Amino acid sequence: MKILSIETSCDETAISLLEANGDKSKPEFKILGDVLYSQIEMHKEFGGVYPSVAKREHSLNLTPLLEKLLKETDEEIIPDDEIIGIENNIKDEVREILSREIDLFEAFIKYISKIKKPNVDLIAVTSGPGLEPALWVGINFARALSVVWQIPVIPVNHMEGHITSVLKESANVEQITFPAISLLISGGHTELVLIKDWGNYEIIGRTKDDAVGEAYDKVARMLDLEYPGGPKISALADVARNKISSGELDFEKSLEKFDISLPRPMIGTNDFDFSFSGIKTAVLYLVKKLKEKHGVSEKNEASDKILSEEIKSLVALEFETAVAQVLLKKTKKALDKYGAEVLIIGGGVIANKNIRETFMNLQNNSETSSPKSVKVFIPEIDLTTDNAIMIGIAGYLKSFDYKVEINPEIVAEGNMSL
Ligand code: KG4
Ligand code: ZN
Repeated sequence: MKILSIETSCDETAISLLEANGDKSKPEFKILGDVLYSQIEMHKEFGGVYPSVAKREHSLNLTPLLEKLLKETDEEIIPDDEIIGIENNIKDEVREILSREIDLFEAFIKYISKIKKPNVDLIAVTSGPGLEPALWVGINFARALSVVWQIPVIPVNHMEGHITSVLKESANVEQITFPAISLLISGGHTELVLIKDWGNYEIIGRTKDDAVGEAYDKVARMLDLEYPGGPKISALADVARNKISSGELDFEKSLEKFDISLPRPMIGTNDFDFSFSGIKTAVLYLVKKLKEKHGVSEKNEASDKILSEEIKSLVALEFETAVAQVLLKKTKKALDKYGAEVLIIGGGVIANKNIRETFMNLQNNSETSSPKSVKVFIPEIDLTTDNAIMIGIAGYLKSFDYKVEINPEIVAEGNMSL
């Protein structure tokens, strides 16, 4: 079947078209088209995602993105000798659905009334978790399409999308056995999930405060780096890493020289929970202290001082090491306890090169470490941060056990749990 999927939970507007086949235990996906507009530039000035801006941008971009996708996939059919148009009762229904996004309504109706219904069997849309104003735009857009084309809609949990994104590679599908453990690390979530089957999840641990991605973004701000902080910190940590591997820098000695050390909160606790706000606060005090002692400035005020690239890169590396150690320790513990041989990692933070390597080593070193044998599945880089492909994949799996409807009532749930 062909699935059109829509993602608008945060600051990425994305739509994709997937061909999905096979049963639930052996699904197969072919990406027919994928379009994405990132709002990152819009949110930079706020230092984070600003919900009303996110909502506005989704409203503005969904119709042009749909047009782009249907053109790319040759699904846009504009008849030259007949006018498609939209019946008044359908138009009224769409107006009602998009009553809070009136600009979207105008653009939507204008475009949709000139094309023929494409070859699509199901529409999948993220209904949570995420920013509610942003989620609503995607949901309403999906329902409007559902009404016009008479195609059913399936609501999808964004985190299930992150987990199932590894199924894009058909080589992975048969190797994934249950129980499996998933580590979800994104801007809003840090969770360890026990997967009993696709669609059957139990959260066994989660962060008690900040999510990993959130900690990255906040620490980045402390180091005067732009939003989103993850990639910036990662690049900075690499500066120190490269100097260490070329012998130019001795990490341990440098940490000692500048008195840099960060805690590994909850690393030894007997549960699967995390806490990252302690590391973040420690960075705040550390940066303040380093600025006082080693900062440079024209004036003699600590607040105006800036840190050298060398010191910043040491802080970034120590931060990344602390985070990776905590994540690894708890994940290993979960694999051990549940006898799981499969680890699936999802969420934007796994775009991080060092964290990826840390977890891939878990697979390579399984002879000498515990757990003894583990297969690690990480989505390719483009699928780690938010996208619509993962929503289509999760929607297909869910469709086996879910009664789909045309124009269903779907509620955006900002805090939706797996
Ligand atoms: O999954 P995602 O795109 O959105 C949410 O669902 O939250 O994750 C975004 C998060 C941001 O906090 C961003 O800083 C982080 O992922 N991130 C990274 C990297 N790339 C993105 N964190 C660490 N290293 C990266 N390379
Ligand atoms: Zn996400």
